[in-house]
Amino acid sequence: MACVWKILLLSVFIVSGRSSTEMKGYFWHISDLHWDPSYNVESTSASKCASSGDRPTPNAGIFGDYSCDSPWSLINSTLNAMRDIMPHPDFIIWTGDDTPHVPDEQLGVEPVLRIISNLTHIIKTTFPNTKVYSAMGNHDYHPKNQMPPEKNNIYEQTANLWHNWLHATSKETFKIGGYYTEKLLNQTGLRVVVLNTNLYYDQNKLTENIKDPADQFSWADKVLQDAAKNNEKVYIIGHVPPGFFEKKRDKTWFRKEFNKRYIDLIQKHSAVIQGQFFGHHHTDSFRMFYSSKGSPISTMFLTPGVTPWMTTLPGVINGGNNPGIRMFEYDTKTLLIKDMFTYYMNLTYSNKAHERWEKEYRLTEAFRVADASPASMHRVMEQISSNKCYLQKYYEFNSVNYDLTECNADCRVDHVCAMREVDFEAYEKCVVKEGGSSIAPVLFTLLLSLMLSLLCLN
Ligand SMILES: *[C@@H]1O[C@H](CO)[C@@H](O)[C@H](O)[C@H]1NC(C)=O
Ligand SMILES: *[C@@H]1O[C@H](CO)[C@@H](O)[C@H](O)[C@H]1NC(C)=O
Ligand SMILES: *[C@@H]1O[C@H](CO)[C@@H](O)[C@H](O)[C@H]1NC(C)=O
Ligand SMILES: *[C@@H]1O[C@H](CO)[C@@H](O)[C@H](O)[C@H]1NC(C)=O
Ligand SMILES: [Zn+2]
Ligand SMILES: [Zn+2]
Repeated sequence: MACVWKILLLSVFIVSGRSSTEMKGYFWHISDLHWDPSYNVESTSASKCASSGDRPTPNAGIFGDYSCDSPWSLINSTLNAMRDIMPHPDFIIWTGDDTPHVPDEQLGVEPVLRIISNLTHIIKTTFPNTKVYSAMGNHDYHPKNQMPPEKNNIYEQTANLWHNWLHATSKETFKIGGYYTEKLLNQTGLRVVVLNTNLYYDQNKLTENIKDPADQFSWADKVLQDAAKNNEKVYIIGHVPPGFFEKKRDKTWFRKEFNKRYIDLIQKHSAVIQGQFFGHHHTDSFRMFYSSKGSPISTMFLTPGVTPWMTTLPGVINGGNNPGIRMFEYDTKTLLIKDMFTYYMNLTYSNKAHERWEKEYRLTEAFRVADASPASMHRVMEQISSNKCYLQKYYEFNSVNYDLTECNADCRVDHVCAMREVDFEAYEKCVVKEGGSSIAPVLFTLLLSLMLSLLCLN
């Protein structure tokens, strides 16, 4: 059973064995595990889990259900798959959201901390010698989303749970604002900045009238300025991303002024930033950042969730996903992202037949680019925007092969504008520009896509 994806993986490394090996490293990025301790496949009620709300789960199986958050067996399977595919990554990025999607009344400070503790424990025991850079998600607090811009018990307890992963100086800032910075693996010239962007989430009532919650922006500005002075390269890690949700027109997470300030920060320091790694969407996408002159300067990689939980966000139809995990290949000297491998579990298949993880795609192969640099990712986006085959391929990856329906014209606009424009006003302009169509181009596109669909071979 395990051999299927081991064979697939082998082929990956044979292909990638061409360039100099000594500069190459690998790391995992996982996100949105959302463990639901109430999941019980043996339950006789219409729903096998609390996180389904009142949605029935007739197809629930051992590894979960698309209307439920992750059962422990899925969490266990995920960590085992990671260990089998790449047991000794250089490090792991874990971008939060550990608890189930249930009303606050069904959780509490203790249950939330216990869930964070259990997930921390399984990651630690599966990867005992691996450094983990861990960010808090909006579900890793009680009540959810209400991350305070100051010291509190949950930041303190979480810092204690992550004791082995945090330097003493990191613990200090973490306890105050849920953020920290360290040299990447203690190496000169390399740095990680872990942000608590839950402070910018518009659902967070505690930060509504604060200009710079927990002074995180001014802190990050200084950290990045120092990084430039010291010739460092930096990865930025966080949970809630700026910009738009690609599955729902006009849906944003950040408050407007925070969104602007985040973009300013990236533009100002793009020379040192080599990648941004976020979660929260549960989908597989990315966001482009451009200089004021319009050249691509940075990419934010949005990794898919482990939970298959179908979103209840009004206006999103059938928004589930297969459990996904992601491995990055990077240059250990410059932190340039060279490639990205996404693995997944076909939940339907694993429930029906047997546990199986397989490679979903490799970025450079699927989109025919040289690496995952901002220039290459800009090309990927342009290909998705202009070529129906790439759009469809991207769209299927977006839900980790869950939603295989056609991405139509509206869908194209939603995804392309979300990827291209993180700025609120620029996005609106993009929607008008990309969506505005008289009948002639529509007919032409229709014809063209009909022709192209005959050519979509992979
Ligand atoms: C976790 O996975 C291991 C290896 O597949 C298996 O032996 C064990 O029974 C699993 N535990 C749970 C609780 O699912
Ligand atoms: C979670 O942690 C508690 C101890 O804090 C332990 O009793 C329990 O068995 C753990 N659950 C799982 C599924 O590992
Ligand atoms: C990295 O540096 C920190 C603080 O100086 C130290 O506590 C830690 O043990 C070091 N880790 C490694 C792997 O050298
Ligand atoms: C997932 O598995 C189901 C059941 O075997 C199958 O019908 C479906 O085509 C699979 N999906 C993908 C993307 O392979
Ligand atoms: Zn989530
Ligand atoms: Zn989230």
